[in-house]
Amino acid sequence: MTHTMFERSCRLFNTAGQFIAGGVTSAVRAGARPHPLYFDHGEGSALWDVDGNRYVDFALGYGPLILGHAPPIVREALHAQIDRGMTFGSQHRLEIEAAELLVAAVPGAEQAIFATTGSEAVAAALRVARGATGRPLVVKFEGHYHGWFDGIFVSTAYDPALSGPAERPRVVPQTAGTAPSSSADTIVAPWNDLMATAALLEEHRGQIAAVMLEPLAVNGGVIPPDPGFLAGLRALTRAHGALLVFDEIITGFRLALGGAQEHYGVSADLAVFAKAIAGGVAFSAVTGSRDLLHVVAEGRVVHNGTFNGNPIAAAAAVATLRYLTENQHEVYPRLHALGARLADGLSSAHPDLRVRQVGPVLNAAIGEPQSVRSIRDRAGRNVAAYERFVEGLLGRGVHTTPRGLWYLSTVHTEADVDVAIEAAKAMFARPTAILAGAEA
Ligand SMILES: Cc1ncc(COP(=O)(O)O)c(C=O)c1O
Repeated sequence: MTHTMFERSCRLFNTAGQFIAGGVTSAVRAGARPHPLYFDHGEGSALWDVDGNRYVDFALGYGPLILGHAPPIVREALHAQIDRGMTFGSQHRLEIEAAELLVAAVPGAEQAIFATTGSEAVAAALRVARGATGRPLVVKFEGHYHGWFDGIFVSTAYDPALSGPAERPRVVPQTAGTAPSSSADTIVAPWNDLMATAALLEEHRGQIAAVMLEPLAVNGGVIPPDPGFLAGLRALTRAHGALLVFDEIITGFRLALGGAQEHYGVSADLAVFAKAIAGGVAFSAVTGSRDLLHVVAEGRVVHNGTFNGNPIAAAAAVATLRYLTENQHEVYPRLHALGARLADGLSSAHPDLRVRQVGPVLNAAIGEPQSVRSIRDRAGRNVAAYERFVEGLLGRGVHTTPRGLWYLSTVHTEADVDVAIEAAKAMFARPTAILAGAEA
C-alpha cells in the first residue's frame, strides 16, 4: 500500500508532535500504523480522513459510538441543549431523566452517581465500595483494564518476566509515575480461575472491599467468563462480605440493554458505565442499590466533579438510552446477528485469523490458540502480523483498532460487514505478506 494516501494525515501528525507530547492525546492511539491518522468527519458507519479516504469504521471511537457517527437523535438533543446552556454546575431535569433511564435498564440498579470518564467512574465505585464496607483491599483480574488511575492500572498486560505465577499473578504497574503505595491495596487474581480467586479472598478474609472485573474481559481480547465463573464470583463475594463490582464500560448497553448483567444473568452490587452510555459524548455513571449508595447520599463518601451530570452529556445520555430502551427488541438481536456474521466471515479469511465474538464486540488476532481462557494463553500471538493486517485494511476502506478489537453499531449493515470480510479475504490472498511481512 502506498502511504501517499495519508499525506495530509502524515503532515498533521508531524506538526502535532511539536505541540502535543507524543503527537497523540491518548497513549493507545500512538500504535496506529503507518502512523496515527487524522479524521475529518463521520456519519453512520462511515468515517472520512483528512486525505478524503472513506472507511467503514469498526473502531467506533473505541466504543462510545453505539449509534454510529453523529447520530441524528443525539445531535438534535445536543443542539436543543446547547442553546439553553452548556453547564450549570447545578441541578437540571435531564440528569434525573438520565438516572431514571439508567435505573430502568440496569438489573439491580436503584440509584446512580455520575462522572465524566470511565476512569473517574471506576475511582468513584471503588471509593463507594471502600466507604460502604470499611475495608481497604480491591481485587482485580489480570488482563482487565479499568482506566488509567493509580492503584487500578496494574497487570493489564502479561509480561513473562514480571507477571509471576499464573495462579497468583503479581501486581505490575503499567506505567511509570504511579505512587508506589497506590497499588499496595490492590490484589490481582487470575481470570477464569475460581479456586485461585477463592484462595486469595480467604487469605485476606475481612479485608476485601470489592472484587472488580470486566464481566467479559474485552480489553484482554474478548475473553468470556467460563460457564459458572461469574456466578461463582457472586457467591464468593457474598460469602466474604465483599462487593462485586462490574466494570460495564464496554459491555454496558452493548451486550444487552442491561449489559453483561442481563446477558450473563448475574447481578453485581455496583456497576460502572461510560462509552456507549451517551452515544459519543463523555459521560459516565456508577449504579447500585439505594442501601449501598447511601454512603454518598449521606455525604460520608464524597463524590465531587464540576462536569458531573452536565446538561450536554446528560442530553446525549437521555437521547441514547431512550433510543436503546425503546428499540431494544430489534437492536440487540440485530447487533448479535451482525457480530456473528462478521466473526464467521473474518475467521473464514485464513485459519490463522482467530476471532472471539460476543454480540457486537469482537477480538481478532493472528496466531493464537483455539481456546483462550486468559491473557496468558494469548502470549504467542503475532502482534506485528496483525498490525500489518489492520494497516492493509485501511487501503481497502476498512478502519479498525490496531490491537484486535472490533465494534459494531446499530447503523452498521450487512453490506458494511461484508466489506470487511471481503477486505480480509483479499488481504489473506497473499498470506505471507501479512504473516511474514514479505513484500509483494
Ligand atoms: C473496561 C474499561 N474500563 C475503564 C475504561 C476507562 O475509561 P475512560 O477511557 O473513559 O477513562 C475503559 C477504557 O477503555 C475500559 O475499556
